[in-house]
Amino acid sequence: MSKRKAPQETLNEGITDFLIELANYEKNVNRAIHKYNAYRKAAAVIGKYPQKIKSGTEAKKLDGVGAKIAEKIDEFLATGKLRKLEKIRSDDTSSSINFLTRVTGIGPAAARKFYEEGVKTLEDLKKIEHKLNHHQQIGLKYFEEFEKRIPRSEMQKMEALIQKELEKVDTEYIGTICGSYRRGAESSGDIDILLTHPDYTSQSEKQPKLLHAVVDHLESIGFVTDTLSKGDTKYMGVCQVQKGEDEEEDYFHRRIDIRLIPKDQYYCGVLYFTGSDVFNKNMRAHALEKGFTLNEYTIRPIGVTGMPGEPLPVDSEKDIFDYIQWKYREPKDRSE
Ligand code: TTP
Ligand code: MG
Repeated sequence: MSKRKAPQETLNEGITDFLIELANYEKNVNRAIHKYNAYRKAAAVIGKYPQKIKSGTEAKKLDGVGAKIAEKIDEFLATGKLRKLEKIRSDDTSSSINFLTRVTGIGPAAARKFYEEGVKTLEDLKKIEHKLNHHQQIGLKYFEEFEKRIPRSEMQKMEALIQKELEKVDTEYIGTICGSYRRGAESSGDIDILLTHPDYTSQSEKQPKLLHAVVDHLESIGFVTDTLSKGDTKYMGVCQVQKGEDEEEDYFHRRIDIRLIPKDQYYCGVLYFTGSDVFNKNMRAHALEKGFTLNEYTIRPIGVTGMPGEPLPVDSEKDIFDYIQWKYREPKDRSE
């Protein structure tokens, strides 16, 4: 998961920016995930709105914008700012905790703990480096680099490299770079790769080797530079494009996640990890209305007893849309 979302460049970016800032505050400082989701949902729907919003009342007509958000929009349109945000920004606890959660490996709970121990800044973290776990240490080491978004051109370069190297390890691998990149974003926060292989299904044995062979290979060519965690099905690490002979500047270190998924669950995974998170929530809600339960692994019909049945066969993302009688949406049209 990438920590910083791309700023929205839309007609209403002032509004979507403050909504995302409020969302992050609710998640990181208050650990209020429902409020976080509500702000994200409102930001997504306003981000897609094709007109410049002139009032809270106008915004309130959109699904996901309630009275309280409408009020904030009015305040923002009238004054150009939001008292609530001004207060949050100037509050030492909130701003410190918010800051600390920008380090990968530091979640809201760890951030609060550090804050309570008097650790508030990057300098403070450096002083207690020995108390950080491995993941957090790498997060600190590459703090500035991980904050930078990855331009699409570099994502394309990495995709080509990864596909080429996958083929070298085993021609039967199927790999998909998901996340915002697959949705066509001009920049991405990280690289999310989903990997599968025809030999590996939810009925077969675990096959961690299928994942580790790829990671080891990417490490051997110098693309993967650090490991944050390496499980049987999920790898989290760091990678870097090697600069060409004609290039002057080093590429930045980037966050990379690789997940190994059973073939029969692959397209539910691809759908989920392509996102956006707001789109996923909306699609799940629609699936439920149609009598299906959908998650990152499977789609299952819900029987008359309310119990989910056996997973339905899925061979493409389109299959999933078909089951819930939804018109197929290309990844680029999945922002909400
Ligand atoms: P992210 O990498 O966090 O999101 P992203 O790739 O869309 O954006 P960025 O450019 O900032 O990296 O997560 C990848 C996908 O996983 C996301 O698009 C949807 C899914 N996801 C959820 O559905 N819910 C969640 O809470 C998270 C973290 C991810
Ligand atoms: Mg991503």
